[in-house]
Amino acid sequence: MSEWIAVTGATGFIGQAICRLLHATGWQVRALVRSRVRTQLLQGIVDEWVPGDLGDREALKRLCTNAIAVVHCAGVVRGVDAQAFDRVNVDGVRNLVEVMSSQTKPARLLCFSSITAREPDLSFYAASKYRGEQVLEQQAGALNWIALRPPAVYGPGDREMLPLFRLMAKGIAPVFGEKDARFSMLHVEDIARLVVRWLQCGPVANGIYSLHDGRPGGYNWDDVTAIVSRLCRRPVRAISIPPFMLLVPAWVNRALARRLGYAPMLTPEKLRELRHPDWVCDNDAIRKVLDWQPELQLEDGLKNTPGWRPPLD
Ligand SMILES: NC(=O)c1ccc[n+]([C@@H]2O[C@H](COP(=O)([O-])OP(=O)(O)OC[C@H]3O[C@@H](n4cnc5c(N)ncnc54)[C@H](OP(=O)(O)O)[C@@H]3O)[C@@H](O)[C@H]2O)c1
Repeated sequence: MSEWIAVTGATGFIGQAICRLLHATGWQVRALVRSRVRTQLLQGIVDEWVPGDLGDREALKRLCTNAIAVVHCAGVVRGVDAQAFDRVNVDGVRNLVEVMSSQTKPARLLCFSSITAREPDLSFYAASKYRGEQVLEQQAGALNWIALRPPAVYGPGDREMLPLFRLMAKGIAPVFGEKDARFSMLHVEDIARLVVRWLQCGPVANGIYSLHDGRPGGYNWDDVTAIVSRLCRRPVRAISIPPFMLLVPAWVNRALARRLGYAPMLTPEKLRELRHPDWVCDNDAIRKVLDWQPELQLEDGLKNTPGWRPPLD
């Protein structure tokens, strides 16, 4: 019988890609799930569902029982205030670490942080990811763990970046910060392959590792529009959006979210993240430690992402 891998956030964008590859590689997948309806997304892929959320320690115990590794993808990427992010991105990591540490034979832990943790003052999200890492560094005791800091992730199933690429495919690239801002990117299937490498490698040194698609220095908007333009065979125009044009909607959106109780993506803090000039990551440490090589830079990654552009003649 193959070994069990426990996954949180399996129903999310990154978690789904990871579960599919774990299943295809022959691991048995046990996943935490908050809503039964969401299990349909991974029918025949996840071998065992554990109902519950990150605040439910009994569910976390069931999730981790006899698992050789835990892949922690659950996280909150939109929210109205610090509490909304911390409850999941900080307290969730702490709960998981405590439950795993109490097991007789603790599993290894791979935890998804974010490159934004590098700039915790920018947003509630960034601060929560940084503090989640602090929990690992200070409270993981004897656990073997790594935290990953991915940059912007795209690929099949993504809901945040694909609308932007769809707009670009129509010829318009809205630029929210400086035009020469630089950022790294990563295709979701390269993340899934990295997780499988980590499982195959056995324990590696505890630590926080950034990662990207292998393009040194990342991309700027000219690079991205040139790639989309080539793939769509049409000109793509970068249009700078002045800060005030989004700041007012961001404040209004957050006020509405508070009143109506939804989790907003566009907030003044999210704008600060979007306008940050340097989200370029370094790949060296993780490549050395896992002997992992990303396969898809943006041009091939987009070719490998169905549905973002109309079919070409
Ligand atoms: N996507 C990116 O570009 C990117 C970049 C850097 C880092 N990351 C990090 O990577 C991780 C996964 O991101 P993603 O894009 O896959 O996010 P996502 O699509 O929003 O998925 C989030 C997952 O977390 C689960 N979840 C949320 N709150 C939970 C709770 N309280 N208890 C249990 N599960 C909970 C969700 O469950 P439901 O299905 O029930 O909602 C979902 O499965 C996150 O930690 C994120 O911060 C993402």
